[in-house]
Amino acid sequence: MLARPDGSDVIPTQKLASEVLVLVEENTISVKEALRRYFEGKNVDYKIRGSVHAYVFEVLKRRNLIDFILERSLGFRNLSTIKPFIRNLLRIGVYEMHFKGVHPALATDSAVRIAKEISERSASFVNAILRNAEKVDVEGELRGIKRESRARYLALKYFHPEWYVGIAKRVVEDWKELLKANLRQATYIRANTLRRSPENVVRLLEKQDVHVEETPLPEVFKVISYEKPLAILEGYERDFVIQDLASCLVSYALNPQPDEIIADLASAPGSKTSHISAIMENKGRIIAVDNSAERVERMKARLKRLGVKNVEIHVSDGTKFNTKADKVLLDVPCSSTGSVRSYPSVKWRFDRKKFQSLLKLQQAFLRNSAEIGDEVVYSTCSITFEENEGNLLLTKEIFDVKELKLPLGIHGIKRYGKKSFRDYKKVVRLYPHIHDTAGFFISKLQVSG
Ligand SMILES: C[S@@+](CC[C@H](N)C(=O)[O-])C[C@H]1O[C@@H](n2cnc3c(N)ncnc32)[C@H](O)[C@@H]1O
Repeated sequence: MLARPDGSDVIPTQKLASEVLVLVEENTISVKEALRRYFEGKNVDYKIRGSVHAYVFEVLKRRNLIDFILERSLGFRNLSTIKPFIRNLLRIGVYEMHFKGVHPALATDSAVRIAKEISERSASFVNAILRNAEKVDVEGELRGIKRESRARYLALKYFHPEWYVGIAKRVVEDWKELLKANLRQATYIRANTLRRSPENVVRLLEKQDVHVEETPLPEVFKVISYEKPLAILEGYERDFVIQDLASCLVSYALNPQPDEIIADLASAPGSKTSHISAIMENKGRIIAVDNSAERVERMKARLKRLGVKNVEIHVSDGTKFNTKADKVLLDVPCSSTGSVRSYPSVKWRFDRKKFQSLLKLQQAFLRNSAEIGDEVVYSTCSITFEENEGNLLLTKEIFDVKELKLPLGIHGIKRYGKKSFRDYKKVVRLYPHIHDTAGFFISKLQVSG
């Protein structure tokens, strides 16, 4: 078995990472979900888990350029014709030699040893391709592409698909900064005030070598450094949760009161439901709806761990669900174009048809919410115009947009092609490059007359 200078056993890590990458690819799931499924019931040291996580994440972040290098190395063969495990092993090899600073011979040797467990033929194939990959002059290739297609060049240079670069250019002026920020990660912790005070959670974290800094929200902290993965720490998913600051602002926008009834129509896995419950101090009532039985099961267990008691849960279609509430939260399913820093696989899955049906679904949620309560908070973790201001334009006969003041965020989009959204100052957008959060859209609506 080959060991790296730092003493780590890299062969198992690469093998496990290739297997997790296959899971992500074949099941259209996130890295987090794939890692959860892969390690469930397996007794694997947290350091190895952490290392597998890092490999999978870093490969997926750069998948287009890695695949480009591989295609240059494959000659006539197409990457999609290679068996999934070997394809992902090759991706890891390319990532190591071109982006991680591992010596190409060592990266190739590690991948070849793993491929040998399958067959000698696989091993010599991997060897040949990675030796070609080592010789690819990435900078030179990119210069060539820049002359042919600027859009393709930018997509490869910033590790985003062309459609994403197109959207970024249309929604923000400093779009290059957005693309760069999408490659950095920030982690936020929300103290679960149903169990512990924020100060108490900070002490609990410090005791476990996690250092945090304050944010504009008293119960939310930004992680500055940590020793062990947060998910194995004492208090995780009991006294604190990992939740993006932008996501936490949504519950502030809703401003739930302890005596109110809240309907949360797309609620699983319950990050906002549990935050709303904490703000309501477990009083009043939250009607939490989601149409995924599997996600609801996980949410139930989660809410129990977090000590949430004022929630009734329904597996049901939130676009048809019938109830009455004081306030409605619509944190709707979306393209997740604001969440690519935490969910890099989102970048490689865009489908125009699915996008169109998402827009219809979001509009159906909006229409149904108006039957349930007079005040609605509509949010997405998407940066597109269509899913946000665009949907509010399409439902303007039902809602008035109310002015929303939050401690963080900028105005919405005023003009988009021929469309203009006059309430742009009333809604809030957050961006990775400006606020160091996920990209989010938050709006407050009042059912009109
Ligand atoms: C953005 S996620 C919600 C995240 C959640 N609010 C939180 O903070 O943890 C969107 C959710 O909508 C659910 N969903 C999709 N279509 C739905 C429908 N027609 N009715 C109810 N829920 C739906 C998905 O299962 C998913 O859990």
